[in-house]
Amino acid sequence: MTTAERPFPHRHLLGIAPLAAADLERILDLSERFVELHERPIKKVPTLRGRTVINLFFEPSTRTRVSFEIAAKRLSADAINVSAAGSSTGKGETLVDTAQNLMAMHPDVIVVRHGGSGAPALIAKHVDAAVINAGDGTHEHPTQALLDCATIRHHKGQIAGLEVAIVGDIEHSRVARSGILALAKLGARVRVCAPATLLPPGIEGIGGEETAARVRSFYRVDEAVEGADVVMMLRIQGERIGGAPRFANTREYARFFGLTEAVLRRAHPEAIVMHPGPIQRGVEIVPEVAEGPRSVILDQVSRGVAVRMAALYLLGGPEPGAEGAGAGGGG
Ligand code: NCD
Repeated sequence: MTTAERPFPHRHLLGIAPLAAADLERILDLSERFVELHERPIKKVPTLRGRTVINLFFEPSTRTRVSFEIAAKRLSADAINVSAAGSSTGKGETLVDTAQNLMAMHPDVIVVRHGGSGAPALIAKHVDAAVINAGDGTHEHPTQALLDCATIRHHKGQIAGLEVAIVGDIEHSRVARSGILALAKLGARVRVCAPATLLPPGIEGIGGEETAARVRSFYRVDEAVEGADVVMMLRIQGERIGGAPRFANTREYARFFGLTEAVLRRAHPEAIVMHPGPIQRGVEIVPEVAEGPRSVILDQVSRGVAVRMAALYLLGGPEPGAEGAGAGGGG
């Protein structure tokens, strides 16, 4: 059986934690077939014709929301976008009521972004549709981790054995959490780096023994980046940091934790530079590096569409192998 034919034994995509390495590889392999589709003049396949995908976004988003919408449309599904500003939760409706009302309209997939950790899992308990987590609070952002892995695999050939540095606001980053879990499951070594005030103690063990052996904490960016194959920078999640400030000011943060050309010279000469966006230029990364020859930041965005197509296909589509279900076929 090829990986493309392997069954995907999950009803929802709520996080990386419940997935096995084989599940991650299944999505990555499938996404490569969809990347080829993006190079064709007609970028659409009929796979999800007649299916309905609701994008339910309670937090601001540019990349992720557009990416899911394009992914659904390229699979010929009907995509409906609901943003919190225009939804009834602002009128006091509970999340479960919103979900059940949407369900009464029979969508096949609900893609959820929410400020509360666990919100997509709660919705999944109350609806029949497949639920995809598009980022929940500080918990997980599984499709971001998958698109990051797809990008790394494309540029580096494989993920096992790589040294990946993740630098920034680790504490509030769902991208970091999902990334650590996915990279460790696929055999990379992960170095997480932040000021001590933004690096939760015990982060190495978030995936149990599987991550504890593969993840190390660093408090100096030059040490974290030394010899790394991949350098992933993260934004300070100001909107999630309440109470006392965690560092003196952004200038000082940039000086001690920002990625400059000098810091990047410590990495492997063929290291790639990544960032999930949105970038705060001059804070966690200088523009010369974000746009420099090692940067694959826009490639991450392109691969995001293919990865989300793969997720929608596996969770919302006909069983693989069913008539007309060919991922790359049709016009
Ligand atoms: C990230 C997110 O929303 O968690 N962005 C994204 O999905 N591309 C990271 C961030 O907001 O800094």
